[in-house]
Amino acid sequence: MTRKTIPQHGTDWKALGTELEELGRGDVDWRRGRTAVYVFNAGEDVLQVAKEAYALFQSENALGPAAFPSLKRMEAEVVSMGLDLLHGAEGACGNMTSGGSESIFLAVKACREAARAAGRDTTGGEIVLPRSAHPAFDKAAQVLDLCTVRVPVAEDLRADPQAMADAIGDRTLMLVGSAPCFPYGLIDPIEALGEITASRGVWLHVDACVGGYFAPFARMNGVDVPPFDFSVPGVHSISADLHKYGYAAKGASTLFHRTEAQRGFQVFDFDDWPAGGMTTPTAAGTRPGGAVASAWAVMHYLGIEGYRQKARAVTETRERMLHEISNIDGLSPVGTPQLGLFAFGSDTLDIYAVWGRLLQRGWFTGLLTEPKAIHLMLSPAHAEFADEYLADLRDAVAEVAATGATAADTRARYS
Ligand SMILES: Cc1ncc(COP(=O)(O)O)c(C=O)c1O
Repeated sequence: MTRKTIPQHGTDWKALGTELEELGRGDVDWRRGRTAVYVFNAGEDVLQVAKEAYALFQSENALGPAAFPSLKRMEAEVVSMGLDLLHGAEGACGNMTSGGSESIFLAVKACREAARAAGRDTTGGEIVLPRSAHPAFDKAAQVLDLCTVRVPVAEDLRADPQAMADAIGDRTLMLVGSAPCFPYGLIDPIEALGEITASRGVWLHVDACVGGYFAPFARMNGVDVPPFDFSVPGVHSISADLHKYGYAAKGASTLFHRTEAQRGFQVFDFDDWPAGGMTTPTAAGTRPGGAVASAWAVMHYLGIEGYRQKARAVTETRERMLHEISNIDGLSPVGTPQLGLFAFGSDTLDIYAVWGRLLQRGWFTGLLTEPKAIHLMLSPAHAEFADEYLADLRDAVAEVAATGATAADTRARYS
């Protein structure tokens, strides 16, 4: 691309709005359910609430709680509602962050600083995590000069507690479990991991970025969700994203700690420069007021009843889709997911070729590499489009079966 310069003269908004809409036309058609990753669509009304609340506070900055007590209060209330949902006891606390990766980064930072404060040498410190855990931990480890030790999952594709216990060594700082993990949508055995960390003096972080604002509502609807939050004694911290199944505008996650002392290690505090003290609870400086307001508004708009209804739409759609997919010759589900994520593969067809045929029909979904599979993270809005997807899937499978097509060059990429 030739270098673009800022135009000499401005353009009116009407023309720009049209140009932006034009630019968006090449994007995946998520409003018609064509993607099952990246976007969480709980319906036009929820999108509207998230958008309008964002717009009301889009210029306000959560870096300045003294200037914007409104945002301070909203963040405190969002954190409080999240803690209530995740069984945070007296003393539990947290912050809003920009997303799952920042929440995870801060949990790892807090863990490392706590270890240092306790006199440990954290050089080469390790995070022990199941192979299925999100790469945000590796990103955090890179920045914080730590290492990750990925442990193979058990046969049921969940974390293997014994193997994780065996992987703990002198340098281990943190153990990780997911609720659920991104690849398979499965909740790791957090209780078993909690027993290990409690007896070994290791920090346990639960990555509930996907499930934090979903699994509790699925449980209220009767899904047999195992304990995964602060109800498990060994759990130190939990990441839970509001911009996923919380349905807030993007840029909103929560990081929760069991104690304020723990949270203290997350905070950056500095005053050795010419402009006084700078204390920030997160990695960011400026924090978008819009993201805070959007999360606050959507939580109040939906309420527990609304979230339960959305969770029901998702789990029922997942069940229906998996049932239909199991009846398609050659396809089989990966593991036994309980929430909104699932994957399916094939022993007889090149599943990536099937994925390619679906992409040609406008379906932009994820892929797994272990095992090779098509991966979907459903939104409530998918209930309406599942039948269209299944019809195209049947066609795609028939095409690949008839031609023996392969797709050696298709790889899972989230970038
Ligand atoms: C389980 C899990 N953890 C963490 C993340 C990272 O979240 P974010 O993309 O908001 O940084 C994701 C993203 O999909 C995820 O699925």
